[in-house]
Amino acid sequence: MLRVIMKKIESSSFFIGRQGDGIISFGSGQPDLPPPKEVFSVLSGKQRTFKYGLIQGEERLRNLLANEYKGSDAHNFVICNGASEALDLIFRVLSGDLKRRKVLMPRPYYYSYPFIVKFAGLTPVFTDLKDGRIDLNDFEKKVRGCAAVLINSPSNPTGRVENIETLKQIEKITQNSGIHLISDEVYKDLIYERENYVPKGKRVITVNSFSKTFGMCGLRVGYLYSPDKDLVQKTIEMKVHTSMNTNTMAQEMAAAALLAPKSYIEKQKEIWKKRRDFIYQGLLDLGLDLWRPEGAFYVFPRVKNSSKVVYDLYYKYKVIVYDGSWFGSPDRIRLSYALDIEKIKEGLKRIGNYVKNA
Ligand SMILES: Cc1ncc(COP(=O)(O)O)c(C=O)c1O
Repeated sequence: MLRVIMKKIESSSFFIGRQGDGIISFGSGQPDLPPPKEVFSVLSGKQRTFKYGLIQGEERLRNLLANEYKGSDAHNFVICNGASEALDLIFRVLSGDLKRRKVLMPRPYYYSYPFIVKFAGLTPVFTDLKDGRIDLNDFEKKVRGCAAVLINSPSNPTGRVENIETLKQIEKITQNSGIHLISDEVYKDLIYERENYVPKGKRVITVNSFSKTFGMCGLRVGYLYSPDKDLVQKTIEMKVHTSMNTNTMAQEMAAAALLAPKSYIEKQKEIWKKRRDFIYQGLLDLGLDLWRPEGAFYVFPRVKNSSKVVYDLYYKYKVIVYDGSWFGSPDRIRLSYALDIEKIKEGLKRIGNYVKNA
């Protein structure tokens, strides 16, 4: 009997770091744009000590962050190895205290979320997006009995931005039910349509990063902010027994990025927006069905068999795209437009050839 061998690429780890050999990668969500030039002044050779730093993070950086969050001070922050560590720590800290064990998140989700929650011994549960946005009716039903909610707007992978009204409702529902709200704000500065709204409140934990806004993902600097100083203290206690301090030189660079003129972010946003328009129109012209991204730098078009598309595009056309099933959405693929317009053009041409020949 003939056995059909399913050709499938199982996760993004197959693609991360893959480049050269004529490959066009719409894969990894790492900005190709340079960080603010001010960041490089830290490399001028003045740094003479490489000792352990404060586990909570360098005070100067935390003070600068406190300027950005009304009512906060340096004690409300923990500087982490990217938003990734902030998320990992906070769920493990919460897990120690919580009676309820479920964590609600919108689906499609950033692919690490279910893993991070499960590694903390908690159980991910899902509210499915409706037309790419949170459906408050479903949210209200599913949130009952949950310990925490994890949201991300603008969203990876959808590129959608939640309405301010929805965010305020979520803020209210979670606050009234004593549920923690973890708001992953790593794309908060990359919105093309309007100002962002960052949820606030006693039980809100804000996670953010220097990876996306400032193009510094390899330096691994992120943070969590919580008005609850006990929670901050517990996070520090966990960090001292796991990764210790975050790289001190990278933290100096993060401080330099925060002090760079704000026009840096505006200029980056113009570039992202041009790319957004280009790839969105290009995929529409190929006949694909997709949402127009309102933030971040991803498009998430519909396809029939995402695993096959990912496999074929890579092996036959040298194009990397991510499988929607990694994000809880097997009927889509994710493309990051963190590459210049010329490469996007070439990638679209190859995808066009694939679509024609499929
Ligand atoms: C939604 C979301 N959260 C967190 C992260 C992790 O970011 P960091 O580089 O700060 O760890 C990413 C990275 O792609 C992301 O898309």
